[in-house]
Amino acid sequence: MSTKIPMIKFSNGVEFQLFGLGTWESFHSTDALTFKPALEAALDAGYRHFDTAQVYGNEHIIGEFLDEKITSGQIKRSDIFITTKLAPLFYHPGAAEQAIQKSLENLKTEYIDLFLIHMPFGFEVECHILLPQNELFVFAKKLGITFTSYATLGSPGRPNKDPNDPNPTEVPLVLELSKKYKKTPSQILLRQMIQRGIAVIPKSTNPDRLQQNINIFDFELCEEDMAKFNEIKTKKWLFKSFWEMLKVTLNIRLMDIKIWQWYKRRID
Ligand SMILES: NC(=O)c1ccc[n+]([C@@H]2O[C@H](COP(=O)([O-])OP(=O)(O)OC[C@H]3O[C@@H](n4cnc5c(N)ncnc54)[C@H](OP(=O)(O)O)[C@@H]3O)[C@@H](O)[C@H]2O)c1
Repeated sequence: MSTKIPMIKFSNGVEFQLFGLGTWESFHSTDALTFKPALEAALDAGYRHFDTAQVYGNEHIIGEFLDEKITSGQIKRSDIFITTKLAPLFYHPGAAEQAIQKSLENLKTEYIDLFLIHMPFGFEVECHILLPQNELFVFAKKLGITFTSYATLGSPGRPNKDPNDPNPTEVPLVLELSKKYKKTPSQILLRQMIQRGIAVIPKSTNPDRLQQNINIFDFELCEEDMAKFNEIKTKKWLFKSFWEMLKVTLNIRLMDIKIWQWYKRRID
């Protein structure tokens, strides 16, 4: 697959694709039977950058999948970029090292390309057309910090979603541009973020939507249309706060019993 995905270079020289696969949220992402075919569809569609985290509970599935592909010679480890994140439970120097070891084991890899401290501030931020994060983006840029948007599509499948929350895919400007460029609203949202120079990691486990989401490198929003996004008046955090995020994450993994048991075995 020859999808030409733009790259950026971190200050340490490591290259990073501006487009990747988000894997948080769904039941599907923690169930190998349904998640592996989604990973297969993503790989076939040209995805090479995978975003996971210890709390997503799916590192081992991604690890198994990529290991099978690497062992069978279909891809090389160096073709793949893996991001994972330290679970809040391990925000302690001693615990962090063990947690990294566990991620390496789960992912069946000798190195992790990008290891983040999960939440509350970092390289990944909630960023979409209803929360463009302009000031933060400019500030990060000045410091040479790369910026990745999550919830670019408005995270419609997030647990505890408030039904009154606005949906970025339904914003009139997005619908208008969708018609004009003959692209879906989701493609418009992803393309707009890429053109701002911000990385995106849309999550999907649906083969058609996986394909649709990566199919954004064959068109360009003109400058005039890009400027129209600055006129959107509605501003909205969809993930309410750090505590809300924490609650959601903890709900999903129910304290990730497996990680907790593993940690306890080590400190006992
Ligand atoms: N660092 C952090 O604290 C943090 C926090 C949140 C998220 N993240 C990362 O960012 C990734 C993306 O964020 P997100 O998953 O919250 O939100 P998102 O990517 O904005 O939205 C994902 C949702 O949109 C649906 N979807 C995907 N493509 C679509 C399309 N073309 N048309 C219509 N619906 C579509 C997906 O359902 P289907 O699967 O059914 O397609 C899923 O329910 C996460 O998966 C995770 O890897 C990081």
